[in-house]
Amino acid sequence: MTAPRACPCRDCCLDGAPDQIARMVHDLSGIVIGPDKGDILRARFQRRARLLGLKTLAAYFDLIAGASEERDRFISLLTTNVTGFFREAHHFDLLARQIMPGLDRIGRRINIWSAGCSSGPEPWSIAMTLQGHCAAMARRTRILACDIDAAVLHKARSGCYGADEVTGLSAAQINRHFCACGDGPLRRWRVAPPLRGMVEFRQLNLHDVWPGLPAFDVIFFRNVSIYFDPPAQRRLWQRFHDQLRPGGWLLIGHAERVPADLQHLLRPAGLTAYRRPDQNCEAVP
Ligand SMILES: C[S@@+](CC[C@H](N)C(=O)[O-])C[C@H]1O[C@@H](n2cnc3c(N)ncnc32)[C@H](O)[C@@H]1O
Repeated sequence: MTAPRACPCRDCCLDGAPDQIARMVHDLSGIVIGPDKGDILRARFQRRARLLGLKTLAAYFDLIAGASEERDRFISLLTTNVTGFFREAHHFDLLARQIMPGLDRIGRRINIWSAGCSSGPEPWSIAMTLQGHCAAMARRTRILACDIDAAVLHKARSGCYGADEVTGLSAAQINRHFCACGDGPLRRWRVAPPLRGMVEFRQLNLHDVWPGLPAFDVIFFRNVSIYFDPPAQRRLWQRFHDQLRPGGWLLIGHAERVPADLQHLLRPAGLTAYRRPDQNCEAVP
């Protein structure tokens, strides 16, 4: 008896070989698909391919290789964008109590990077912390907020959030930093002008080159490295070190760690906080 012919996938159906999907996702974003995520992603890609009238996943992948608009869609289908205002709140306490007082002594412009900013609550929370604790410092601070996902960046830039998304904020914070638009269940909250001028949003794949970025005083790189493989993570720890000013801070997510053999570049400085050593001031506090 002859064995049934294996489905070639390239030509006959929308199944798509799992390794082909994983390779495509990794090549375009650096994201490693966990064993539990493969089927979910395949279903999303299949739905999208069908909608576009394509008969195979291979045809869909060919389209992505060429068309930038569809590539943005593809990336939006695969990213995990969970976020929230003042998420992992200890970093905002650290910013207000330790980092800002240290920077206040320096009169120059301050640069902060939210790398993997999702739909914006992280950079807006940074801006609120600065405005809330020292308006003069806020005026000389620029926050760069980057993400690979164009759809979440669009929302981040709009600064517009539903009532269910601002639950992490106090009434005082909402009154001070947001304007209400709409009424009743349709009411939304829009970030108000003083904060809006502080943040620049930019689409960026962190695995690509970082053209024209300044040296940063603080980098928030939280809950992003968990999606990458260890070699990609190592490259990023080194690149973040290079992009920090001496004495600058790197803040990462609760499930993330800079490996011990790189801690001469990024020294532990509190809960999921690291600092680039300052040669001129050996004892970074
Ligand atoms: C779970 S969210 C974290 C958001 C925010 N940092 C926080 O902690 O609330 C992860 C974000 O990383 C972004 N991301 C994933 N891969 C990326 C890459 N290669 N370059 C830039 N951003 C990426 C995703 O689009 C997503 O918005």
